[in-house]
Amino acid sequence: MTVPIANVENEVGETIPPLTAHAVSVSLPTWSANVGYEEGQEWVLSRMKTGYPRFFIHKSIEKFAAAVVESYGLLGERALLFPSHAVATRCVGFFHNQAPELGPQQVRIVDLVPSAEKAGSDGVEGVSPKVSAVIFPGDHFKIAKAFWQHSGDGVSSRRAEYCHNLFSKGILIDSKKREETPRMCKGPKRYRTKTSIDITGHPSVTSNSSPEGPSGAAEVQEPTQFVEERFGRNLDLSLTSNAKLAIRRRIAGSLTADVGLTEALALEEDHERSRKVAGFSEDDVYLYPTGMSSIFNTHRNLMAGRGHLKSINYGFPYIDTLKILEKFGPGCLFYGFGSSEDLDDLEKRLESGETYLALFTEFPGNPLLKSPDLRRIRELADKYGFVVVIDETVGNFLNVNVLPYADVVVSSLTKVFSGDSNVMGGSAILNPKGRYYDVLKQTWEADYEDNHWAEDSVFLERNSRNFVSRIERINANAEAICDVLRTHPRVKQVNYPKYSPTRPFYDQCRTPGGGYGGLLSATFYSTADAVAFFDDLDTAKGPSLGTNFTLSSPYVILAHYTELDWAASFGVEANLVRFSVGLEDTEELVNIFRHALEAIPN
Ligand SMILES: Cc1ncc(COP(=O)(O)O)c(C=O)c1O
Repeated sequence: MTVPIANVENEVGETIPPLTAHAVSVSLPTWSANVGYEEGQEWVLSRMKTGYPRFFIHKSIEKFAAAVVESYGLLGERALLFPSHAVATRCVGFFHNQAPELGPQQVRIVDLVPSAEKAGSDGVEGVSPKVSAVIFPGDHFKIAKAFWQHSGDGVSSRRAEYCHNLFSKGILIDSKKREETPRMCKGPKRYRTKTSIDITGHPSVTSNSSPEGPSGAAEVQEPTQFVEERFGRNLDLSLTSNAKLAIRRRIAGSLTADVGLTEALALEEDHERSRKVAGFSEDDVYLYPTGMSSIFNTHRNLMAGRGHLKSINYGFPYIDTLKILEKFGPGCLFYGFGSSEDLDDLEKRLESGETYLALFTEFPGNPLLKSPDLRRIRELADKYGFVVVIDETVGNFLNVNVLPYADVVVSSLTKVFSGDSNVMGGSAILNPKGRYYDVLKQTWEADYEDNHWAEDSVFLERNSRNFVSRIERINANAEAICDVLRTHPRVKQVNYPKYSPTRPFYDQCRTPGGGYGGLLSATFYSTADAVAFFDDLDTAKGPSLGTNFTLSSPYVILAHYTELDWAASFGVEANLVRFSVGLEDTEELVNIFRHALEAIPN
């Protein structure tokens, strides 16, 4: 089990975890650092070594994008990198919607693929290293960045590093050039030149022609890789497809043992923790590069399968879900309170003949931890005909089983499924008993691209092996923190599924032995109190959730800084602090929270 870190070096802009090249969180240890980040203040931005990957473009990705512009772009242009031509085409489509004045020469795609000569080489073929760059006028960066953030379909930093290396060596080339070059006739395998990708799956960084040392083993790896690969072993990318299968089985609930990959795949199915829907298997689990990608592509697939209808967003959602529904289709009916009155209103609209594509909801919601009445939503969906999409990221499927109420269940695997805060991932699963299963399955089968980068899959598989034992401990720690906060007079409100008025809805879906999860939030009587508490709180502080270590953040500042009044109108207050509780020793953690509460001035 990963050693939890409660006392990270509290330095602005440091990676969380520290010294982790592909960390997905970053230290914003004070209230003012969070405000500074949101306002683009130099003292914060200049110190950011990294950031949450959908919001902050990793420096390795920036570097590769700059190299692509240098080769294929013009002065003043920029590029963003995507894992496939199809994704890049969607980004271009978004550009055309947002800035119709830009012509096809101004926003264009360069597909980088292995040269014909190298395409069949060992390593290259198995890993499928490719990148599609969208090149655009630099002053329109905001548009590209919005697509990057909302869709979650940008390249990962590991893919960028891997592909940049191949690009530098002339192995990854413009696909148009590849078409022009006749494919070289290959001799017997033993006479072919060795690819510059070593057997560990990492491109060698030294020689141009002979990457291997005399022993035939790969010689040099980038130093950051040594730091990152805390497992002490090199990655073996030939294991990628097995890693992906193990991840999908884990998400299906049929693989729960904490064992190595080979053993895991040989195990009998775990029936106890399965999703309790007849006929459901890992064949209905689809892996995505990020949680947002699973939501974005679900919405896209639903429109492809059922037509361009409006969606419903029920409950106050994670920021980008609502943005997707608003920006990428005919719009959305938003019920930010997620109340029973909202469902009454919806029922009236449905009765009067309004039709909808789908209802999107989180179980429970982030950051208020309210649980929607899934039973009633399912009844309305069956009666009036719309798809139910449930985001189970916060509850997670070991604590709650929402699949029987859903047509599609989506999740961010970046969070507690991974736990290590060093890789992104997402999943969408289809309910084989759902009313729209046949049409949805057909759409997914026709459209689905596996864009989860090979190295990321290997990391995610390793991180998720001990998922079951971590959840149990996290549930217990979160309850202990709730107890401390709930009994303190300076805390206005604690939000946690167990103490929410919506608890009966949560309990309806709670698994036997399931708990209430690791996420909670608290509000204070004044911003000054919240600031004093937060600044004194000795946990890691930054974006993301579901980490193996406790991670706190003034979430509303970070997610809704430009729309604080709007958020407040749904009861999401600017002084809210959100805690994602980790695996630390319970007593130690409780003391950390008590200490911070004492810092609130009288
Ligand atoms: C409830 C919920 N759904 C989806 C996402 C998006 O996941 P990702 O950041 O992996 O794209 C988040 C991110 O915080 C989330 O909290």
